[in-house]
Amino acid sequence: MAVGEQTWVPSSWRDLPARQQPEWSDENALAAARERLRALPPLVFAGEARALQTALAEVCEGRAFLLQAGDCVESFHEVTAVAIREKLKVLLQMSAVLTYGATLPVVKVGRIAGQFAKPRSEPVEVVDGVELPSFRGHVVHSEEPTPAARIADPDRLVQGYYHAASTLNLLRAFTKGGYADLTLVHTWNREFVASSPAGQQYEALADEIEKALRFMQAIGIDLATERTLHEIDVWTSHEGLLLDYEEPLTRQDSLTGQWYDCSAHLLWIGERTRDLDGAHVAFFSGVHNPIGVKLGPAATPADAVALAERLNPDRIPGRLTFIARLGAEEVREALPPLLRAVREAEIPVVWVCDPMHANLVRTPSGRKTRHFDSIMAELQGFFAAHREVGTWPGGIHIEFTGEDVTECLGGSEAVSEVQLDHRYETLCDPRLNGRQSLDLAFRVADLMRAA
Ligand code: PEP
Ligand code: CO
Repeated sequence: MAVGEQTWVPSSWRDLPARQQPEWSDENALAAARERLRALPPLVFAGEARALQTALAEVCEGRAFLLQAGDCVESFHEVTAVAIREKLKVLLQMSAVLTYGATLPVVKVGRIAGQFAKPRSEPVEVVDGVELPSFRGHVVHSEEPTPAARIADPDRLVQGYYHAASTLNLLRAFTKGGYADLTLVHTWNREFVASSPAGQQYEALADEIEKALRFMQAIGIDLATERTLHEIDVWTSHEGLLLDYEEPLTRQDSLTGQWYDCSAHLLWIGERTRDLDGAHVAFFSGVHNPIGVKLGPAATPADAVALAERLNPDRIPGRLTFIARLGAEEVREALPPLLRAVREAEIPVVWVCDPMHANLVRTPSGRKTRHFDSIMAELQGFFAAHREVGTWPGGIHIEFTGEDVTECLGGSEAVSEVQLDHRYETLCDPRLNGRQSLDLAFRVADLMRAA
């Protein structure tokens, strides 16, 4: 059932195999959680999702760039003013670097306000010699390594909604209430970032932005009334993994009669749940938000075209984003055939590079990490593949935190293997710290200029 067909309803997916769903502890409690979610107000509204789709259409047509970034998995414990503000700072810094560096509008989408659930390759994991159900995110259970803590508790679906609502509320306040004001461009540079080479490069860029603002003022432009200098849009996104969460938050828009998943502005389908006959693709085919799909190294050109046909049959620019996560080694070979096949099918798609998820390695001590050089190598391969085919490298999708963690190796003021234990705090995948994220933004701005 495709977008626009009358037979689609939010529960249509229930007849199909749904991968990666937790084994909820109690069916009645699950039904009660769904009912509760159905009664709660939407977190975003349809008009906003349409505005994002319009912005993504600009990316699709090569006139803008998408920056999608945030945590691998958000923690309920980190729904605090400080943690949200620090993440926003890095996002604002990266976006200033990309916008100024490439002189293009940057569409900012956070992995935020709902990125609480994880798919896992293995159903169980061993922690300190004890075999446990793998951690699937705070919207399912606690990360504590005991069997009792890992029971999937449906009440957490409702808690997830409230944590998303608090996060989104503060995000809206920060982005519309003055914190994202471009005249504050210097204040987004935190101390531990500012002392690094990338931080100093940022200081110089912030000086230039301030100079440009003063110039505009001097020639008579009224900066005070120019809304875009003082307010920005940061859109929300998460992997639409738990269909028992997404379905009850899916609402019919009173203006158009179309269905929107009002848990976030953009939802993406993960690498493990993108099978064409599965529940996730069926569900999101009927939801009118902009949709993303991860494409890993196993994705064939035929898979990409079939997904594009299924999820964007009306060929609407901005409706569909493909997030390629192919690996530094594979991207140069694997990406061009995908780009060509989708172009030949004449289906408009935004192409984004996730240089994180196919570049995971383990250190001898068993820590999951990613090397900054591999991340950059995949990004370079992504830009080179687009240059070869003549398509638009539409954006990047990364995992970062605002904190000074040591989870990924290398980068600005390189993190070394012995330092990994120092501040390894992620609940799931290793994230770039604030310095590494800024370093990456400067290098991507160079790649964009060259494109
Ligand atoms: C993720 O984005 O955190 C993730 C699990 O990605 P993928 O589906 O690409 O493996
Ligand atoms: Co991840």
